[in-house]
Order: sequence, then structure tokens, then C-alpha cells
Amino acid sequence: MKNNSGNTAPVGVFDSGVGGLTVAREIMRQLPHENIVYFGDTARVPYGSKSRDNIIRFSRQIIRFLETKEVKAIVIACNTASALALETVKEETDIPVIGVIVPGARAAVQATRNGIIGVAGTEATIRSETYTKVIREMNPEAVVIGKPCPLFVPLVEEGFAKHRITEEVIDIYLSDMRQTQIDTLILGCTHYPLLRSKIMAFFGEKVHIVNPAYETAMDLKHILREGGNENLSDKAASCQFYVSDAAEKFSQFANTILSYDVGATKLVNIEEY
Ligand code: DGL
Repeated sequence: MKNNSGNTAPVGVFDSGVGGLTVAREIMRQLPHENIVYFGDTARVPYGSKSRDNIIRFSRQIIRFLETKEVKAIVIACNTASALALETVKEETDIPVIGVIVPGARAAVQATRNGIIGVAGTEATIRSETYTKVIREMNPEAVVIGKPCPLFVPLVEEGFAKHRITEEVIDIYLSDMRQTQIDTLILGCTHYPLLRSKIMAFFGEKVHIVNPAYETAMDLKHILREGGNENLSDKAASCQFYVSDAAEKFSQFANTILSYDVGATKLVNIEEY
């Protein structure tokens, strides 16, 4: 018998910690009927200073965990894991896996007028040059200027997103980039959209700011629809949150970002997967 609720299985979303909630938030906004299982690797954050081998190992473990939750698609919300692990891990599972780099790059290529694009991200993301490669595949003429901004992550996590100290750090990291001709800047790290208004104020109106979360949620919608896997049920969606450490702190942070009542976050020993 045909199931007219569509596919009610959840979508798996993972990140190195809390930052991926900016992507989960966008998925909730654009796909309000989809159930979500979110995993934040709070025991091993930050990924941005880790090696490629470890980022691949962590991503594999998280995908094995999400498989136990019978997810129908996986979104790697973390830019660092998308940059370093996506190509490897997506070949190892039958579940569709998408990351944030291709959607973010596409949005930037569509937005730029002069082909000069800035990317702010973690050390590992910028060093990998994945954004540069993906952007150049889409527009071989594009010029990409990357800048690691590692202090943005702890500033957001410590609640300093609106603090003047953050303006100083933005100035220190991004002044050189402001001297260039970039007309588009990708916020290539999960936390940076939480600094969006300050970064926009720093660059002024001439620079278009791209948050890859928006296009990622659109891509997710597209692959679910193509595969006939949309959740067509009109029941309110449920979201479950799992972390590898500090569950209470995660819940508190999540409640400041999401309009969804996060409730209790569950602890998982991710090394067992
Ligand atoms: N989630 C990471 C990213 O988007 C930022 C935090 C980290 O370094 O793990 O790259």
C-alpha cells in the first residue's frame, strides 16, 4: 500500500559542535516537516585545527551513528568536514550525503559581478583550498581570496558575538581582505553567520555576504524531492539532539539559536561507532 506520508525517516545533520545549528535552523525553516537527528561532536571540537585523517575518522564514526537512527539523508553542516571528508565518506554509504561547500560556492559564483570572491573559514578549510577548487570548477576565471579566522569560533561560543572585542578581531583578520576588490564573501564556517551583522557592517554594502546554510537547505530539499523522500506528513516535525560531551551546555546554546525547544540533549560515546 502506498504510504501517503512520504518518507518520515529523519534527516541526519552533523557538525563538530554547536555551529551546525545555524544549518539545522535553516533546514527547519525551509523544510518544516522534516524530522532531524542532530549530532554535535562537542568532545572533539574544534575540527578546524585537526588533520584530514582525523576529520575523516570522526566523520565516519558520526555517519555510522546516524545510520543507526535510520536517517534518509545526511547533511555535513561543518565546513571543515565538508572540505576534508565529504568526498571520501559519501562513497562509503548508500545514504545521500551533502556538505555546505558546493552550495556556498554556487551562491557566491551566482552573486559575484567581478569574479573576486573572499572566503573566511577555519585553518583546515582554508588550507584545503576546497572552496577555491569548487568555485574554479564553476567559474574558471574566478579569483578566490581565503582567510582563516580561528578566533571567531570561541568568540561566538563564549557569547561575544555582539561584543566590541569581536569588532577588533574582525578588523585584525579581515582588513587585508577589505583592501582587495572582493565583491562577495563566503562565511565558510558554521559559526560565522552568527557574526553576520558585524561582518556586513565592516565590509559595507558593496560586499555581498553568503551564508552557505541557505543554499544547503535548498539542495537538501531538492535531493529529497528527486528521490521521492520528502516527508509529506502534516505532523509537527521532531528534532533529536546528540552530542559527545557537555550536553547541558549544548542545550543552553541551542536554545539561544533555535526557535525550537531543544529539551534534553543526549550523550553518545562516539568512539564506539
Ligand atoms: N564547524 C566548524 C566549521 O564549520 C567550525 C568549528 C570547528 O573548528 O570545529 O568549519
